[in-house]
Amino acid sequence: MALAHERVFGQRYLPLQPAPYKAYIETYGCQMNFADSELVAGILQSTGYGFTADPAEADLVLLNTCAIREHAEEKIWQRLKYFQSLKHKRSHLIVGVLGCMAERLRKKLMEEAPVVDLVAGPDSYRHLPQLIRQVEEGHKAIHTLLSREETYADVAPLRLSPHKVSAYISIMRGCNNMCSFCIVPFTRGRERSRPWQSIVEEARTLADQGYKEITLLGQNVDSYNDNGVLFAELLQRVAEAVPEVWIRFATSHPKDMKDEVLKTIAAYPNLSPYIHLPVQSGSDSVLERMNRGYTAAWYKERIAAIRTYLSDAVLSTDIIVGFCGESEEEFQDTLRLMEEVRWDSVFQFMYSERPGTLAARRYKDDVPSSVKQARLEQVIALAQRIGLENHQLRIGKVYEVLLEKAARRNPEDMAGRTFSGLPVVVRDASRRYEPGDKVRVHITEVSAVTLIGYALGAA
Ligand code: SAH
Ligand code: SF4
Ligand code: F3S
Repeated sequence: MALAHERVFGQRYLPLQPAPYKAYIETYGCQMNFADSELVAGILQSTGYGFTADPAEADLVLLNTCAIREHAEEKIWQRLKYFQSLKHKRSHLIVGVLGCMAERLRKKLMEEAPVVDLVAGPDSYRHLPQLIRQVEEGHKAIHTLLSREETYADVAPLRLSPHKVSAYISIMRGCNNMCSFCIVPFTRGRERSRPWQSIVEEARTLADQGYKEITLLGQNVDSYNDNGVLFAELLQRVAEAVPEVWIRFATSHPKDMKDEVLKTIAAYPNLSPYIHLPVQSGSDSVLERMNRGYTAAWYKERIAAIRTYLSDAVLSTDIIVGFCGESEEEFQDTLRLMEEVRWDSVFQFMYSERPGTLAARRYKDDVPSSVKQARLEQVIALAQRIGLENHQLRIGKVYEVLLEKAARRNPEDMAGRTFSGLPVVVRDASRRYEPGDKVRVHITEVSAVTLIGYALGAA
């Protein structure tokens, strides 16, 4: 989901105040999982836990996992071996697996990785204190019941990112879409929307704490519905409640994205015109097998609507290559669509069969992995070329940029984003500015993925 859409990576929490017991949380997967880890941290803190960035000094290790592709799960099996070795040295260490892989594999995790003491699915986090107590009393603990109501609306997340610049708010949970390739409806259950008042309140609290950017999260934000308050209205209420904060959201679904939402974005100066609209494939027959509920022509019409209402829109997408039965011709349709839509960034994946999904039951995973790999490389090369061409048109322009952190390559530079979500590296900014500052930046160079420039002054 979304530009900060790095799919699978670990995040280590920073130490907070000293406490008798220390938890270490490592998070994989999408932004929703990151938001969930902050809920889990909030729940643990209220039971007296502190946090550490070093697993070697932790009393409780929690892995918040992802199940979207096989590779995501393989990584966790590997990580568990490491925690097994740690437990040899710290016998009281409790190891728990949370998130989507916990929901999918349940008992199998404990059976095949004896290091695992505790398994809790995405709707089970309220039960963590009891589950931990159960482990302390010498039992294994498991809770993976999915709920139709749980939205954690009353749980205060503990924000642990090093800078108070950007924050996530989950506005809904689960997914009812049943895209044939996708495990999420099985790991996160039925869709439910969080009451709009609690979202607005959380946004206001974040604004009062000095946050500059908020991303509203859901697997399909366009189907948000809190007793008749739809997504466009929610956006409007949040935009009005925190006029000083930039608001983003993810993820939109092409079959459900309404013009009303686009009109609302156009009407409020703090609603970012960044739209992540996963297409998955450019072929109608593949889209049909994927059960996505739209055609390539429908998708293009939605893109045209975005560009009509939002002249400065920045667009990104997800593409799966090598889905069941994908012929060379069908794959070429995807490349053709890329040339037509010209997304600013593309997240591309090789199809990975997930047990129990519609596709796994109905179709054969019959595209050889060498073909998947070759197609992935073609998508990457084309996305890079188009991304670079789009970026070249931005050389010489001046953008307002929210600075987020020191740049990875050169800590004298800072990394940030434009209001429309484009990543920017600002040269020599670290001496003059801090994370959270907004500056005007003159773009002098570009790469396929970032704009690069110099700060002209505070915005
Ligand atoms: N609701 C979100 C889905 C999150 S999953 C959304 O629609 O964006 C993020 C992306 O992972 C999907 O868009 C899809 O491109 C990819 N994905 C999901 N299941 C996959 C699978 N089985 N194999 C490969 N990629 C997959
Ligand atoms: Fe998965 Fe489709 Fe739901 Fe996204 S919309 S989470 S791809 S089922
Ligand atoms: Fe997210 Fe992975 Fe679950 S992408 S919803 S953490 S399967």
